[in-house]
Amino acid sequence: MSYFSAGSASILVGAQWGDEGKGKWVDALAKESDIVVRYQGGNNAGHTIWVEGVKHVLHQIPSGVFQKGLISAMAAGVVVHPVGLVDELAKMSHVVAITPDNLWVSARAHVITPWHVYLDSKAESASATPIGTTKRGIGPTYSDKASRSGLRMGHYIDTRLRGAWINDMKLKSQEFKEHFEKEAHAWDQFSRSAEKIARFVCDVETRLRKSVLAGKKMLLEGAQGTLLDIDHGTYPFVTSSSTASAGACASVGISPKVIGRVIGVAKAYVTRVGSGPFPTELHDDVGALIAKKGHEFGATTGRPRRCGWFDAVAFRYSAAVNGFDGVIINKIDILSGVGDLKICTHYTHPTLGRIDDFPWDAEILKACVPVYETYQGWDSEIPNSGPKSDLPPTVFAFLAGIEKHTGTKILWVGTGAGRHDMISWGS
Ligand code: GDP
Ligand code: IMO
Ligand code: MG
Repeated sequence: MSYFSAGSASILVGAQWGDEGKGKWVDALAKESDIVVRYQGGNNAGHTIWVEGVKHVLHQIPSGVFQKGLISAMAAGVVVHPVGLVDELAKMSHVVAITPDNLWVSARAHVITPWHVYLDSKAESASATPIGTTKRGIGPTYSDKASRSGLRMGHYIDTRLRGAWINDMKLKSQEFKEHFEKEAHAWDQFSRSAEKIARFVCDVETRLRKSVLAGKKMLLEGAQGTLLDIDHGTYPFVTSSSTASAGACASVGISPKVIGRVIGVAKAYVTRVGSGPFPTELHDDVGALIAKKGHEFGATTGRPRRCGWFDAVAFRYSAAVNGFDGVIINKIDILSGVGDLKICTHYTHPTLGRIDDFPWDAEILKACVPVYETYQGWDSEIPNSGPKSDLPPTVFAFLAGIEKHTGTKILWVGTGAGRHDMISWGS
């Protein structure tokens, strides 16, 4: 008998450079789940869900939180910003009751301290080629975790152990000591937040393994996107965690055999926030129109998102890295009235020639020129719901082009920001 019933967990992962609409889709898929687990990242994420006409942006709390009777968990692979979490809990308390019964925060997860936030900003300011991070302290926190000098949630909520970590850091670094003294208010707020979140902190991973064993259905929620993965993304213009599907098992401490379904979410075009190569980026009026129609501003930092055509080379790569069983093509409504549409089928490189496989090197990617196939657009707005047969043939042709050039199967399409703005496409 296997330890878990095979296939009881699903993973939802962003297929591009983040902001694909994961929040909306996790909320939708959570209806079929008992537990939703955030498996990496921290408050660099911004996952938007509209509930009864009100916009909610979740940074740390998993996006299933609005579904009744569901457990939300933050697993070992996430990094937690305690002050931000307290703030988010306070905002959510007007909408849903969050208790230690329905929110579990991993004692193993590493803590983002004021020091890490400071280091992130400092590195960005000092660099001639900044990554364009969210300056939330994500990279430095994961760095300390890897160098085994980080602070874990289980220790953070213990006054004595938190104090020991701070003292140790003071001994190790004069700069830390100065920061601690200068930013006394931030450190005080940081320490006070521990009391407020201590009751949620537990051995999440053991609970999750037991839950799966008891037949509970788990949905694992990715943050950021595959092209921002620390190993498989466009390094160094990436985040500092394993965003791809394999990262979910590592974070939770479960066997890959438990995973039944991996679903990828992509926009019908591409956006990117921050620096780094982006072959299909549009610098013209069409790009500006998509940005305007799509309200393409970062949900966390408010920065404008760079916009471009759908990139099948990047998506094929993402599908291969994650093993998508099916995909969601989101925000197709934004392409209404844009005119002719394009899908990048491959790249050409000045010295390497034709490129069909997404390059490993950001420098190579930077020099790639996209080669497009053009599709006729659709002028009128499309319905937000109903049968797919209500959509114009041009939508079918464009989506068939995506399936053809990516070798993936579209399961649903996103037709609006609303919670129910979606049309089933396949099974
Ligand atoms: P996430 O980080 O992947 O959860 O995505 P974000 O929330 O950062 O960005 C997605 C944006 O698109 C949010 O403003 C959503 O409300 C919005 N959105 C999601 N799905 C759709 C869709 O199908 N159509 C439109 N027009 N907006 C959508
Ligand atoms: P969600 O979950 C889009 C980007 C930053 C920067 C790079 C590194 O909402 O899709 P970091 O602060 O993580 O060290 O920044 O990653 N980035 C995101 N881009 N959506 C996100 O999250 C992102 N989280 C980080 O802009 O380029
Ligand atoms: Mg986002």
